[in-house]
Parts: sequence; C-alpha cells; structure tokens
Amino acid sequence: MAAMAISSSSATVRIGCKKSAFVTNASSSVRSEFAGLRRMDSMFDMGSSHCLFAQMQRNVQAVGNGCRGVVTMAGTGKFFVGGNWKCNGTKDSISKLVTELNSAKLEDDVDIVVAPPFVYIDQVKSSLTDRIEISAQNAWVGKGGAFTGEISVEQLKDIGCKWVIHGHSERRHVIGEDSQFIGKKSAYALTQGLKVIACIGEKLEEREAGKTFDVCYEQLKAFADNVPSWDDVVIAYEPVWAIGTGKVASPQQAQEVHVAVREWLSKNVSAEVASQTRIIYGGSVNGGNSAELAKQEDIDGFLVGGASLKGPEFASICNSVTAKKVAA
Ligand code: PGA
Repeated sequence: MAAMAISSSSATVRIGCKKSAFVTNASSSVRSEFAGLRRMDSMFDMGSSHCLFAQMQRNVQAVGNGCRGVVTMAGTGKFFVGGNWKCNGTKDSISKLVTELNSAKLEDDVDIVVAPPFVYIDQVKSSLTDRIEISAQNAWVGKGGAFTGEISVEQLKDIGCKWVIHGHSERRHVIGEDSQFIGKKSAYALTQGLKVIACIGEKLEEREAGKTFDVCYEQLKAFADNVPSWDDVVIAYEPVWAIGTGKVASPQQAQEVHVAVREWLSKNVSAEVASQTRIIYGGSVNGGNSAELAKQEDIDGFLVGGASLKGPEFASICNSVTAKKVAA
C-alpha cells in the first residue's frame, strides 16, 4: 500500500499501512519519552520545527487513524559501525581477526572502522581489506615532539589511520581526561584531516541522579566549543554503566538520549548538523541485540568493544543495517 511522506528538515515521517511491527515502534517511541530521564521540560520549550513533541504527535496520529506509522531514520548519515579493540590482542590473535573480517560478507551501506591498539595498526593496515577503515584509540592534542609516550595525529596519518576515538569513558574516568582537553584533541585531529569518533555518556550514579542529559550536554558542548566543523565527526553515546558490563541500554533508553543529542545539536549548532551527524550507540552491543537497537530511528550505528574482537559477530553487527532498512 502506498505511504504518504511528510518531510521536515531533519526527519521524514511516513504514515502508511505497511508493516505491523511499526505500530509497536510508534507506540513504544511515544512511551519512551516518559521513561524518567527528566527531559520533557526542555523538549517542550524548544520551539523547534522538528522537535520530538511534534514527532510524537505525528506518531500518535498515525496510530489513532487506525494506520501504522512508519518512521524512517531521523538522521541522514550512512550507518556507521566502529570496532574498538581497546588494549587487547597479540600479533597472532589480530592476524586471525583480520582474516575473519576479510572473509566476512558485509553490507554495502555501512561505514566500518576498526581501532586496533597503536602497536598493531601497521600490521592491520597492511593485511585488512580497504573496505574497513582504521582508527586510532587516542592521539596527542597538538603537533608531535617532546611528549613521552604520546602518538601524534601526523604519525597516525602517516601509517594510514583515517579516524581517532576521543572522549572514550575509559580515558575520561580511568586516565582522567577532562572534556576541554578532549575537545581540544578533537579540534587538532580534525584540522589535520583525521576524522573523530566523539564519545559521550553518563555514569550510573549520574543516571540515577537524573543527570543523564546534563552530563551528555556538557560533554557535547566541549566538543562544540572546540571543533572547527562537524563534517567529520561521529558522536558515540556510550553510557558508562553499559560499557563492558553486559548491561546494554534498552532500545528505548538509547533512543531517548540519541534524540536528545540530535535536538541539542539542532538547537546549539544547526539543524543541518543535527540531521547529518551520525549518532551511534555503544555499550555491550553484540550480535544478539544490535538489530533491535538499529531499528531505533535516531541510532545511526554502533561503537562495539568486546564483540568487535570476534570477526563473525562484528560482521553481523555491521549487517544490522538491514534491520534499519526494514524499519524504514
Ligand atoms: P563494549 O565496549 O562493547 O565492550 O561494552 C564498548 C566501548 O567501550 O566502545
């Protein structure tokens, strides 16, 4: 049956009568806005043409009309999956992982990046298919020189890295990097042509204190205050309580923060940046939960830790873009 398309600057909402799954999607998306993260007040006074409230009304209308609401991706960027190998691996285990990735069948419409430990980047670069780009897990804040133990952006580019991860919770909370330093490191990388996976996310006690949005906005602002442009930035929302714990955020919990991040970008940067910037989710993503998460309209992909160390499972997470396509 034909679907009617209603466009707004950042989202396309189709109201049609296509797949029953979307009735559940539409109503759970409405429910999720009341999941207790104290964001409704700020949402109602945004005055934005594509604010969540307007979208909720459209969803409700679609269901109320006895029709099924089909909601496409809110963002316009290509699905993106990053594998963060952290401080894991040996020459042998990495060689096995690369072999698995090289033989995996990967969907076309997903950008894929892996972040090996620094010392194995060269090995990975010379053995991994060009289909997958390489990221570093960190980089120095400025030009290289007398900075013992650091790796410069220039060196990373020299060995073929296209990306760097900044703001990961392990660097914020274990190593002690603060938001301003992270913002400055991201700015330097971008000005030198290295793309940035910019991580944000709240700790469990912050979530329990109702501060999830405040924490994410403060971390986002530090990126926004520093980066020259958002063209080469992917935002990774990674709740700290979900990283490496096996406690994945529910699709609704993740969607709730992703839509808030997009709205923050719209209000504080521009509607264009809000729609174009990929907002990916990280924290205990695996082959069993990625498809459900991918169906959420503001989830544009994943940053994967533990499960990225297994080639076939990482490939299946990358291929969860197909769940996105069905949802659209
Ligand atoms: P995890 O890590 O998938 O092992 O939870 C995610 C990350 O830290 O990026």
